[in-house]
Amino acid sequence: MNIAIIGTGYVGLVTGACFAQAGIDVTCLDKDLRKIEMLRQGRVPFHEPGLEALIAAGRASGRLAFQSTLEPDLSLERAEAIFLAVGTPTGPDGRAALTDLLDCAALLARTLTHGTLVVVKSTVPVGTCERIRTLLETESLEAQSAVVPRPRFTVASNPEFLAEGRAVEDFLHPGRIVIGCDDPAACRLLRRLYAPFDPDGSRTLTMDVRSAEYAKYACNAALAARISMVNELACIAGPLGVDMHAVCKVLKTDPRIGPHYLRPGAGYGGSCLPKDLRALIAMAQDHGEPAYMLHSVETVNTGQCERLLDTLLACLAYDFKGRCVALWGLAFKAGTDDLREAPSLALARSLLEAGARVRAYDPVAGRSAEALIPDSMFELCPDPYLACEDADVLVVMTEWEEFREADFAQVAEKLNLATVFDCRQLYDAALLERHGLRHLEIGQRPASISQPLTDALQNAV
Ligand SMILES: NC(=O)c1ccc[n+]([C@@H]2O[C@H](COP(=O)([O-])OP(=O)(O)OC[C@H]3O[C@@H](n4cnc5c(N)ncnc54)[C@H](O)[C@@H]3O)[C@@H](O)[C@H]2O)c1
Repeated sequence: MNIAIIGTGYVGLVTGACFAQAGIDVTCLDKDLRKIEMLRQGRVPFHEPGLEALIAAGRASGRLAFQSTLEPDLSLERAEAIFLAVGTPTGPDGRAALTDLLDCAALLARTLTHGTLVVVKSTVPVGTCERIRTLLETESLEAQSAVVPRPRFTVASNPEFLAEGRAVEDFLHPGRIVIGCDDPAACRLLRRLYAPFDPDGSRTLTMDVRSAEYAKYACNAALAARISMVNELACIAGPLGVDMHAVCKVLKTDPRIGPHYLRPGAGYGGSCLPKDLRALIAMAQDHGEPAYMLHSVETVNTGQCERLLDTLLACLAYDFKGRCVALWGLAFKAGTDDLREAPSLALARSLLEAGARVRAYDPVAGRSAEALIPDSMFELCPDPYLACEDADVLVVMTEWEEFREADFAQVAEKLNLATVFDCRQLYDAALLERHGLRHLEIGQRPASISQPLTDALQNAV
């Protein structure tokens, strides 16, 4: 089988490399020439575990090719299915911006000389596949030249559920594959294409196009709601003197609730949950639905950064001026260099605005962060302990493995206020205390920590 994928980002590139590994001939296309050139040289444009080896194998087998959409080429014409995996970021009104997707549709309309199967992998509002089909059928070359019969395009929805940081693993061993398709032949083709990842077909869920488009938003809304719920519970638990670790164990062992996404943290970020929530709220608005719960999920999430700041402010005797905060982890989660809507960036910007200095370390996302925060008070450090040098407190924002086994003696020696704000529940409080470090977690109230730390601060200055 032969397919093309337009959009060679986190989703498109992983999809292409995994399909190639499964024996399918894949051309990955992108409008970003620099990215295509890198890939042709065997370099991967972003950090994703396992992807480099998969791409190398795909190139060596001759099944994986890279092509710029700006150069004329026959890959689209040859493909039995064309996947669209371009970004759908938040537009100015909160809706998903479909500019890139509609550009792709326009490219197909002026390139293809026959009808074909187009598969939308991008996360798109309900009705988008139908909109693309209409565009293709009215604006394609053949339609323009009034050829009879008119070309027939099938546009299927095939939302992606991979998670950055484990994207290859997720794609090769999917929890489920969603195919929204109103054409039985196209549906069969897609099932065949995915058969290597779901041999008995039990994890493939087929449905109509609109339901498949909506299913992706439903999943992300449910995940975001869970995160905001556990964060809110932690914030209420703190002042009540409740041990949130114990409470999470109780939650996780309830089979009706399940064990995942129940760890209080700095709030959700990344390229999907925030923008998909906004897009879903916009869809609700368009149909006169108030979406009370989705609004609350967002409110809790945006409030999370303010809560982190409040806690830090209490640590620093209510004045950030002249203070220095060490940040471990900038990527929105471990395993990726993606900084889109990363809570760490929001926190760093707020600290800088309030007059603090920030010394940051991230094993893979540092360089890009430096470009996003061009401030002389924001300093990127080459190792985690240098970031603690001359800092008052340490905030751990990303759950990188290397932070779990940190050398706490070094940390304690370097921090002025011997305080670690563990926003990922990585550490055992007793262990840190043995090194003379105060351990703080999400939900712990500034009032309960301010006095001893104020005393420590007086001693430090
Ligand atoms: N990143 C994730 O974890 C994830 C997971 C599931 C679903 N999704 C969804 O998948 C879609 C893609 O996300 P992503 O993170 O891979 O995006 P990305 O920004 O990493 O990649 C998009 C790529 O599309 C290219 N592109 C844009 N317009 C183009 C055009 N007209 N022609 C050719 N190339 C074009 C860009 O240059 C870029 O390389 C989004 O809708 C997203 O919501 C993402």
